[in-house]
Amino acid sequence: MSSQPTFEEIVALAKRRGFVFPTSEIYGGLANSYDYGPMGVELLRSIRNLWWTEMIHKRTDMVGLDSQIMLHPETWVASGHVASFSDPLVEDTVTKKRYRADHLIESWLEKHPEVEVGAVEDMNLAEMGAFISERKVLSPDGNPLTEPRTFNLLFETAIGSVAGEKAKVYLRGETAQGIFSDFKNILDSTRVQLPFGVGQIGKSFRNEITTGQFVFRTLEFEQAEIEYFFDPNKTEWQPLFQEWRDYMWKFVTEKLGVNAENLRWRQHTDKERSHYSKDTYDLDYNFSFGWKELWGIAYRTDYDLKQHIKHSGQKLEYTDPFTGEKIVPHVIEPAVGVNRMFLMVLTDAYWKDEERQRVVLRLKPELAPYKVAVFPLVKNKEEIVSKAKEVFSLCADHVRTAWDERGNIGKRYLSQDEIGTPVCITVDYQTLEDGTVTWRDRDSAEQVRVKIEELVKRLR
Ligand code: GAP
Repeated sequence: MSSQPTFEEIVALAKRRGFVFPTSEIYGGLANSYDYGPMGVELLRSIRNLWWTEMIHKRTDMVGLDSQIMLHPETWVASGHVASFSDPLVEDTVTKKRYRADHLIESWLEKHPEVEVGAVEDMNLAEMGAFISERKVLSPDGNPLTEPRTFNLLFETAIGSVAGEKAKVYLRGETAQGIFSDFKNILDSTRVQLPFGVGQIGKSFRNEITTGQFVFRTLEFEQAEIEYFFDPNKTEWQPLFQEWRDYMWKFVTEKLGVNAENLRWRQHTDKERSHYSKDTYDLDYNFSFGWKELWGIAYRTDYDLKQHIKHSGQKLEYTDPFTGEKIVPHVIEPAVGVNRMFLMVLTDAYWKDEERQRVVLRLKPELAPYKVAVFPLVKNKEEIVSKAKEVFSLCADHVRTAWDERGNIGKRYLSQDEIGTPVCITVDYQTLEDGTVTWRDRDSAEQVRVKIEELVKRLR
């Protein structure tokens, strides 16, 4: 029996089993900020590594980059983020709490299905203001709201050694801009030829107002972004765009093992699309709080490189090695949040096994924090414990292995099920006689005897 978990179940499991903790909890936490615990850090790392392997290492047309979180501030003027990277904000006139105007309108519309308006994403600030005052949309605390205004999402900070306006820098709002500003260095230092892409994984920061979406929307998060450069005179953008969409879909379904029924594509409307994009699709996942964007793909044209050419005065051009022709390439950008992939994987793997009264994380073995757990049947029998330690070392030489000797075997199995360990191995009295162990499968809970010499082969 399987059913989608509730939001509360996911949050509770994440905390209980060391996947995600509210950050600085001893001080009451910090809005929209989370830490990844002993299990979470492993899952996050596996997802990140898998993305890097599939997107960079396994392709001949991709290279990687690790640019700074703080770039020259002019970068964000050139990219358009200083002027227009903003959300529509309203304030509760009594509590002074702030909300996204579009989100409050969406919630209001869900409660009033008889009211038909176009897509909320298409409303401009004035239209949102008119809607809120005409329909008397109130804050979640039931109070009137202020007029919506734009709120820039870039985090500002300052460099200590310089005073004044010149010291102001931004924490990057996307990793993409580092790729554009390093474009010339990448061309000059590698043998890349169009079409080629640059991938980067790293932290980005946004002053998000919306709270209560767990790791889906946080102030600090990790992006995995690709800028795929091509010559629009030689490569048609539509088939390339489709190729990347297919590649993204395959990654999510085949590599992350996510059920395709919980995925869909959604094209952005003209009004909703970012200022730099000619076409954008979101790959949405059916999260426990509804269909939401997991991964975006945008055709950014030559907007960014041209802006950086204008603002830096540098020639950011590609020279065709055969004809000598110089062009400013266009880009297609698949951009995903590692933390959103994490939340999707956790949600999709969560299985309530009613028959056996247990919660199982049916993670792909490649993603599970531990690939195997080794138990001594009892902890007070020296020969069993030392044999089990031998088995532990044998496994740990090849895969990440857990050790547990507490409580009864049934509880140990349930504990490993909840963190997604695909296999549990128990060393018992029979092991001492015939060199076999109990091999227990996470999903079927079936147990078979396996010879110690065969373990490594079976685990791979
Ligand atoms: N360079 C393009 C760009 O940044 P985006 O749609 O704003 O596009 C890309 O972000 C991805 O980053 C999103 O699809 C989402 O997975 C992730 N993301 C964006 N904002 C986030 C936030 N506040 N918290 C967690 N992930 C976020």
